[in-house]
This record gives sequence, structure tokens and C-alpha cells, in this order.
Amino acid sequence: MSSREAIQRMKSMREAVHRGGGEKRIEQQHQKGKHTARERIGMLLDEHSLVEHQTYIAGRSTAFGLENKRLPGDGVVTGSGLVDGRQVFVSSQDFTVLGGSLGEKHAERIAEAQELALRTGSPFIQINDSGGARIQEGILSLHGYARIFRANTLASGVVPQISVILGPCAGGAVYSPGITDFIFMVDNVSNMYITGPDVIRAVTGEEISHEELGGAGAHASRSGVAHFRYGSEEECMAGVRRLLSYLPASNREHPPMVTAGEAGWDDPDRSVPEVLEIVPDEEKRGFDIRDLIAAVFDGESFLEVHADYARNVVVGFARLAGRTVGIFANQPSVVAAALDIDASDKGARFIRTCDAFNIPIITLVDVPGFLPGVTQEHGGIIRHGAKVLYAIAEATVPKVSLILRKAYGGAYIAMAAKGLGYDRCLAWPTAQIAVMGPEGAANVIFRREIADAEDPDAERQKKIDEFRESVMDPFVAAGYGYVDDVIDPVHTRAELVRSVEMLSRKREEHPWRKHGNIPL
Ligand code: HXC
Repeated sequence: MSSREAIQRMKSMREAVHRGGGEKRIEQQHQKGKHTARERIGMLLDEHSLVEHQTYIAGRSTAFGLENKRLPGDGVVTGSGLVDGRQVFVSSQDFTVLGGSLGEKHAERIAEAQELALRTGSPFIQINDSGGARIQEGILSLHGYARIFRANTLASGVVPQISVILGPCAGGAVYSPGITDFIFMVDNVSNMYITGPDVIRAVTGEEISHEELGGAGAHASRSGVAHFRYGSEEECMAGVRRLLSYLPASNREHPPMVTAGEAGWDDPDRSVPEVLEIVPDEEKRGFDIRDLIAAVFDGESFLEVHADYARNVVVGFARLAGRTVGIFANQPSVVAAALDIDASDKGARFIRTCDAFNIPIITLVDVPGFLPGVTQEHGGIIRHGAKVLYAIAEATVPKVSLILRKAYGGAYIAMAAKGLGYDRCLAWPTAQIAVMGPEGAANVIFRREIADAEDPDAERQKKIDEFRESVMDPFVAAGYGYVDDVIDPVHTRAELVRSVEMLSRKREEHPWRKHGNIPL
């Protein structure tokens, strides 16, 4: 073969790879409102930055009719590329080739991208659009999944791992995303479930659609499986790029900083008088903690995670004087911000994500306690709530708490206590720190006095006022040294900036152990 012919052959091989399952199937994919594997990579990465790996890999199985269906690439595109100039590794399943099903070589290709991400300390992003285990390849396919799950697990806490579900992701296939740090889903495109509607109908008789069972809405708001939900693939990929801007490439690095003069920079000393309007004086009146976050942190920098799940806590990334921070906040507008099972899981998981990736944690505290009730008790609030305490106590990143209003009982400890390991605890003058609220406290301690009094209501009120002054007052806690400073709310931003900066070179090591045993 002449060199010209060889080059021509190379070009037609490359074209074949880029065609995937062919024009007809690409058209079908577009008709479903979906993009192809390569179009999605194009949306995710900086232009022309993809460096493809194992481009011509092909399945070797010929079982059960596969002999005529072997295609180079084996139904997935993998490689490295840049997002805002920073290296990431990516895999993108190609539904036009055998339904994106995962065979031996398809799995090998993904696993290699995972291993390279780990070896080079780079984030790994997988785009899933697949009919699951390639049925014809049997054990080879299952072995492939097993390898991917292991690679996901070994990379956990070392490099950020992001799953983008853009099509079916069913059966055991869901567990690779399930192990990763973040799951993105798109309405009417993504589906995740262990068993689909047909199986459910056969087993339980229940009728449910794919979307209701395992669509983006179901997983973003009910199961908590999805961290981010979008209306289109384009918005979703922009969301992935945005998330990456808050994360370091690996656990050995710090997140990128926005510095003075760059887009997004915000004055560290900016006073925030608007917070006085946002947080009502009446202690029982709710407010949206996200308004406070928007006022205090760098302008427009808040990226909420798990926005529609367990809304009684708010978690997400923001910037404070250009530095990425993780916010773990109570949400007084939802069930009075009481911590329940789902909120505990959401909070604990987020804290551990921040800790793994060198992101300081700031808590914003206005919490009456853990949610009482039989459902909570029997659902295991003890072991779920324990996760928050454990995650905070164990985290070695800077931890700053700010008590706005209520901080009662175990929830005070979880959200704010220096005894648990918060490096710095700040309080607004309106903070109330106690084992329980003043009404409950007066009723327990002075039950007899109140009952025996000539005017029980007046006596109760007297005891409540006394409790507020002698026990709950933030200067009482400050006097013991458990609140570092009682700050003017107007200076909240500057105080938080200084606290995080002061802690930015924090080093903390725990005694050697194989690993702790967090209550799962
Ligand atoms: C091999 C598959 C496949 C699979 C789809 N295809 N899934 N080939 N193994 N798992 C093929 C189809 O035969 C078809 O090929 C092409 O992909 C497109 O599929 P369609 O059915 O035409 O597409 P659509 O109508 O959009 O339906 C998509 C689907 C459906 C809902 C995903 O294909 C489906 O139900 N597939 C089977 C899903 C499944 O049961 N997978 C195993 C799950 S268990 P042709 O050539 O005919 O066009 C599992 C265990 C993993 O994954 C365990 C890991 C631990």
C-alpha cells in the first residue's frame, strides 16, 4: 500500500469511527431530542481539545449475532480534554452503537480513562446513555462493570467524579454513577432505575411511567440520587463546566481562585446591611436562607447542590473573596429547618465532599433541633443524624460556623459547636444557644412553680425571660469561649472572609487508622 493509500485508509477509518452507528441511528437520536456521544463531548470540552484514547478498540465477541455488529470504538468515546483550560477525562456512551450497551472492550475503554484520570490527578466525567450490560457478552460485560465500579471506588475522594445521565441507565449500571460524587440529569432525557416500569408492573401491579419512576424530577426531589437537574442537554453541560470551576483537579490541589480584577471578583469588605431585612426579628418567622447567601458571598457565585431534595437544609458551593467554600445552612422556610433523616444524609455527604477536596466549610445556623416523630425515629434518625456529627468532627478542612438565630440541642452541636471541631464560631447578637427553646425549658424546670403561681401565665413568661437572659444569650456562650465573637450582622461578609483566610493554611492530622466506621 502506498503512503497515500495508507493515509486515505486512515482517514476512512476515522470517518467510520465518527459515524458511530450510522446516519439513520444518529437521526433517531436527534429525533428523541438527544445529542450524539461526540456532540455531547463537544458541549462539555473546550473547542477541539479532545485527545481520544483507544479510538479503534473493538469488541471481540461474536456470540448471539454480534459478528456483524462489531464497530470501532465499541459504543463509547473516551479521552482527555480541557474545561476552561483545565484537564479532565471523559467517557461518553454512544447509543447509536448497540444501544450504547456495555461490552468487554467498551468497559475496558471507560476503565482506562478512569485509571488515567486517577494517575494524572484529573476529574473524571462519564456521560451515560446505554441499554446496560451487553446481553450477548454475558460475563465479559458483568466483569467490565465490576472493573468500572472498582475504579470509581478507588478514585473516590482522590479526583472529582461526575456522572451525566443522558438516556437510559438501568439495572446494575446505575451503581457506577451511584458511587461518583455528583449526578446530573435532564428532564425527559435521563432515566435511572434498578428495575423499570415493566418489571414493577409484573411484580407489584403498580403502573408508573419511566419519567415518574426514574426521571430527573424523581431523582432530584424524591430519592436524592441526582444532585443537579436541567431542562436541556446544553444547560446540563454548562452546569458541569460550572461545577468544575469550584473543584480542584484532585485532592492534592486547592480549588482555583478568582483574584482581584477577574470576572466574579467581589469586595471582601463589602458591608451587607440588607441581611437585617432578610432575617426577620420575630424568631418564629421563616425566611429564605438563600437570600442571605446571595447577599453575603461573592456576587452570583452560589451553586446550590441537591436544590430540590431535603430542602430544610441548603448546601452548595460559593466563593468568598474568590476562594471556593462549601455552605451547609439551615433553611428556616422549610419545616422550620429541623434536621431530619434526608437533611442529615444530604448534609453529611456534602461535608465529606468538601473535606475530600480541600474546600472550607461554612455553616449558617438557625435550627430548632432534630425533627421529632415516630417516622423519624423508626427511620433511623439516630444513625442518619450521627453522620452529620461524624462528618464534621472528622473533616480537617477549615470549618467556620455562624449562628444567626436558634441553635438548640444536638443540632447546635452538629451545626456550630467548637467542641465538635469547628475552628471558629461566630454569632449574631440575635443568636440563642440552648439545650432547648425557652418555652420548653421553663415548662420542664419550673413546672411546679408555674402551676403553683397565682398567675401561671405571668410566671411562665417571667421564667422564659429569665432563661433567655441567663442561658441563651450569645454573650453567655462567648463568655465560656465557645463563641469566638458576637458580630454586627452588617459585617458578616468581612468577618467570614477573615475567618476563612485565617484558616487557609490549616493542617490537621488524625491518628492512623485503616478507615473510620461512619454509620452508613
Ligand atoms: C445489547 C442492546 C441492549 C443490551 C439495547 N440494545 N440494549 N443490545 N445489550 N443491553 C440494542 C437493541 O437491541 C437495539 O439494537 C439497539 O440497542 C437500540 O435499542 P432499542 O430497543 O431499539 O432502543 P429504544 O427503543 O430506545 O429502547 C432503549 C432501551 C431498550 C429501553 C434501553 O433497548 C432496552 O430495554 N434494552 C435492554 C435493557 C436491559 O434489560 N439491559 C440489561 C439491564 S441489566 P438493534 O440492532 O435491534 O437496533 C444490566 C445489568 C448490569 O445492565 C449489571 C451490572 C452490575
